[in-house]
Amino acid sequence: MSIATEISAVPEEKRTQRLKAATHAAHERLDKRIMQANPFTDRESYGRFVTMQYLFHRDLDALFFNQELGALLPDLSGRRRLTFIEQDLADLGIAVPQSMCTPTFTKGDKVALGDSLGWLYVIEGSNLGAAFLLKYAAKLGLDETMGARHLAGAPEGRGLHWRTFTAALDSVELSDGEERAVIDGADAAFARVYDFAELAFSER
Ligand code: HEM
Repeated sequence: MSIATEISAVPEEKRTQRLKAATHAAHERLDKRIMQANPFTDRESYGRFVTMQYLFHRDLDALFFNQELGALLPDLSGRRRLTFIEQDLADLGIAVPQSMCTPTFTKGDKVALGDSLGWLYVIEGSNLGAAFLLKYAAKLGLDETMGARHLAGAPEGRGLHWRTFTAALDSVELSDGEERAVIDGADAAFARVYDFAELAFSER
């Protein structure tokens, strides 16, 4: 087989595969930062984790109401988890954090397509790792009905819910510039969550 045939035989990498590779290090760094804070030792520490989640989800909440994005991604508004996080905070007796900083996205604003898709990839993907976190939360007596509602999987299963999302994300037509913006958006989202982790876990 010639080199040219071999190269053309390599299936083209999907956008979500490129996103996963491009953000691997950022995910590792975030994962370490969160787990180093031992968020599952007691409910107080877990409350800090939920506060981080609240700040992150509030930051891009406006995207779940965006009609242009909703036309491209299946059940976008149904994927929103901020309400569950608010209920988890209430279950834990924690007040909803008051506006510590201005959200990155605002309802009604025109959004840049590539950038927003990168942010949504990160927030949706975070629900995959949530399967593990839900198991840790169970040790604190919390579950999908109390305190850990936002970590629950979708009724049809996490895997299928994720694949429906990634298939749609992979098929959106984008210009080269928008394609780069997807990665930049995902990078920005990971950086933002990291900052929220710092904020939530270092406040005493
Ligand atoms: C808010 C914080 C977090 C964000 C934003 C986040 C983001 C993501 C993203 C985007 C993916 C999808 C990767 C892909 O397949 O393309 C993912 C998967 C995953 N995350 Fe996280 N993550 C977070 C916290 C964590 C933590 C704390 C853990 C550690 C237990 C974790 C463990 C995992 C695992 C194991 C997967 C892969 C699951 C699978 O492939 O079935 N994540 N996460």
